[in-house]
Amino acid sequence: MLVLGIETSCDETAAALVKDGHTILSNAVASSADIHERYGGVFPELACRRHIDAILPVLSEAIGKQTVDLVAVTRGPGLVGALLIGMQAAKGLSLAWNKPLIGINHVEAHLYSALIDARVPWLFPALGMVLSGGHTFLVKILDVGSYELLGTTVDDAIGEAFDKVGTLLSLPYPGGPRVEALALSGNPTRFSFKAGHVKKNPLDFSFSGLKTSVFYAIKNRVLEFQEKADVAAAFQETALGDIASKAILALQTFPCRALYLGGGVSSNRRLRQILNERIDSLPIFWPEGTLSLDNAAMIAGLGYHKFLQNPRGDRLDLDVQTRLSIV
Ligand code: KG4
Ligand code: ZN
Repeated sequence: MLVLGIETSCDETAAALVKDGHTILSNAVASSADIHERYGGVFPELACRRHIDAILPVLSEAIGKQTVDLVAVTRGPGLVGALLIGMQAAKGLSLAWNKPLIGINHVEAHLYSALIDARVPWLFPALGMVLSGGHTFLVKILDVGSYELLGTTVDDAIGEAFDKVGTLLSLPYPGGPRVEALALSGNPTRFSFKAGHVKKNPLDFSFSGLKTSVFYAIKNRVLEFQEKADVAAAFQETALGDIASKAILALQTFPCRALYLGGGVSSNRRLRQILNERIDSLPIFWPEGTLSLDNAAMIAGLGYHKFLQNPRGDRLDLDVQTRLSIV
């Protein structure tokens, strides 16, 4: 079954063709990050205008001359105007081709991005972590589509914390990859930061206190390159160490057969190193290449499995959802 995936929840306009949930035939992405760089974050109105300009070229790049069997589209969570553009395109194609439509949860698709290339049969139950700009979730994966929420952030998402620290260090948006690059030159012990502890649920995350500590450490000072690098390294070690500690605590509490990670922050090489050093009791799976970031291959891949569970697909009056939970 050839599935077309469409993703427009934030600042990437993406379309992809995936066969039977696993084989990626095309994966086209147009990013509007360049315009948001000027504002230090995603400017929704400008993101929507870019989606309108990019959606048709990206779709034709992804589809080529292929015949599609199913249209899968991100229905949420995300920016409402941005989601609507992908949704309308998907409905138009579904109607024109007379092929079923299926709505996909973007966060669940980030988890699927680690499964798309991973060996099958998957090792369930597994621990899943979504580490992105808008979401930080720790879940137990019982099956594709069946999750138990173990922890989430009570304030900032992990990628958001990286981006805000990037802004404090005068790095361009998105800060995440730039903080990682800068941290390579830094001494992580020069500053002492602490990640938040959430009393009610030790598997929940809190990064706003950490971000505030970074703010006070550098407030009213002009930083030399080395100081900036040391702040970046100390922040990164603290934030990523906290993620690893919570994954380990979750694995001790809920025995699992594998750890699957997705979302932009899961592309961080230091995170991969820390997890590999600290967890040796089970295999860890990461999305390949750019599949950590927003893309439509993860939407098409998950769409295939959702369609097997719901062979009629969704109705054409399917609406977008700015907030949508995976459990
Ligand atoms: O998953 P994603 O593309 O979009 C969302 O659904 O949010 O994640 C983007 C986020 C941004 O916050 C970006 O700064 C962060 O992922 N990010 C990173 C790295 N690459 C992307 N954070 C830390 N290290 C990286 N290498
Ligand atoms: Zn995303």
